[in-house]
Amino acid sequence: MPATSVIGVQWGDEGKGKIIDLITDRADVVVRFQGGANAGHTVIVGGEKFVFHLLPSGVLHEGKLNVIANGVVVDPGQLLGEVEGLESRGREIRSRLAVSGAAHCVMPYHKRLDEYREGRKAGVKIGTTGRGIGPAYSDKANRSGIRVWDLIDEDRLEAKLHANLDEKNKLFTRVFDGEPMRFDEVFEQARVWGARLAPLVRETGKLLREALAAEKHVFFEGAQGLMLDIDHGTYPFVTSSNSDSLGIAAGAGVPPRAIGHQIGVAKAYCTRVGAGPFPSELDGEVADRLREGGSEFGATTGRPRRCGWFDVPAARYAAALCGLDGLAITKLDVMTGLPEVGLVTGYRIDGELYEDYPVDTPMLERSEPVVTMFPGWTEDVTGATRYQDLPQNCRAFVAEITSRLGVPWEILSIGPARESTILRETA
Ligand code: IMP
Repeated sequence: MPATSVIGVQWGDEGKGKIIDLITDRADVVVRFQGGANAGHTVIVGGEKFVFHLLPSGVLHEGKLNVIANGVVVDPGQLLGEVEGLESRGREIRSRLAVSGAAHCVMPYHKRLDEYREGRKAGVKIGTTGRGIGPAYSDKANRSGIRVWDLIDEDRLEAKLHANLDEKNKLFTRVFDGEPMRFDEVFEQARVWGARLAPLVRETGKLLREALAAEKHVFFEGAQGLMLDIDHGTYPFVTSSNSDSLGIAAGAGVPPRAIGHQIGVAKAYCTRVGAGPFPSELDGEVADRLREGGSEFGATTGRPRRCGWFDVPAARYAAALCGLDGLAITKLDVMTGLPEVGLVTGYRIDGELYEDYPVDTPMLERSEPVVTMFPGWTEDVTGATRYQDLPQNCRAFVAEITSRLGVPWEILSIGPARESTILRETA
């Protein structure tokens, strides 16, 4: 059975958590390979709501191994908090969780640096989640980062932390006019985290390659979405990792050919949280309806999400870049009741019409969306169990998306609960 990846093809928050939770039944192993606690996956099971920032969405399923691989930046306090939060709700997961020793840690000074950089008067403001993601990946690229293995070896930790904190404290005080951090406090905190994390630490790349060789079904769970990818998204308004299937091989330590089947998750409309170009953005009544109806407020920061129509050229770009095999289209129910539903089918830039997504961010910033409207539907869709149960106009909208992208749908999500889903096999 091939490994499967589930990734977001918009600007994050596409509803990946629900899709992964849903198809995890078929998985033996669920893997996070990039990003960190900037992600926020909401899963609703039996009326109970769970929000994870670092744990893979498979943790709610018994008998599945959950892996936090080397490409993730791990905030140790956040991770331990999520593990203990689940335990306090009667769900034991330690025996099913493996954390890569090679993953880099998000340290307290990374979060402060994120905050200081975003608070600067000059320079680009990304509107980050403030979780220290960019500074942690910067230290990784600078070869100065602290990895999980370093955290559990006190001598290594002490030496590395001294070097890091010396540099960061100079930045805090001399560049940002801020406060330094005390070595002994950060060291003590990190030492305790290391001791608590140690039993979970594994060489996860080897573990995953062995699982693949044994024909176990491995699921790679993306965080954020392709349009936030550091190389292929709307740079600089992006996150600091390859937030799509292009990041899997390096972020998990598996051969690229191991990624067999790729599912792209897209909402039936678009949202974006944080700064940066968003050509299909709406304001006014329709945007308010999508925001309220879809609870479009950040799971990590609570910020209201910007809302817009489904952006076909952007999704087609994502499909081509990742080589998607199938689509999961989510939140179709949120569009119920709109008299008309729109698709962005191109852009007008400097008076010229473009059918393809422009990769140069300033061009995208100057683009005006070309929107094609389709008739909406008023019938409640949440109880549908088969494709044929959906209203004709809803099916026509889905067909417009899939034919314009050249990718078939595999899953349609029509409500937050696990049951509110139509799978291609059962359609
Ligand atoms: P960072 O990842 O916290 O550095 O934030 C960089 C950009 O990515 C900001 O625009 C964030 O709002 C956005 N971002 C990060 N994580 C998520 C996510 O899980 N969903 C949606 N947007 C995200």
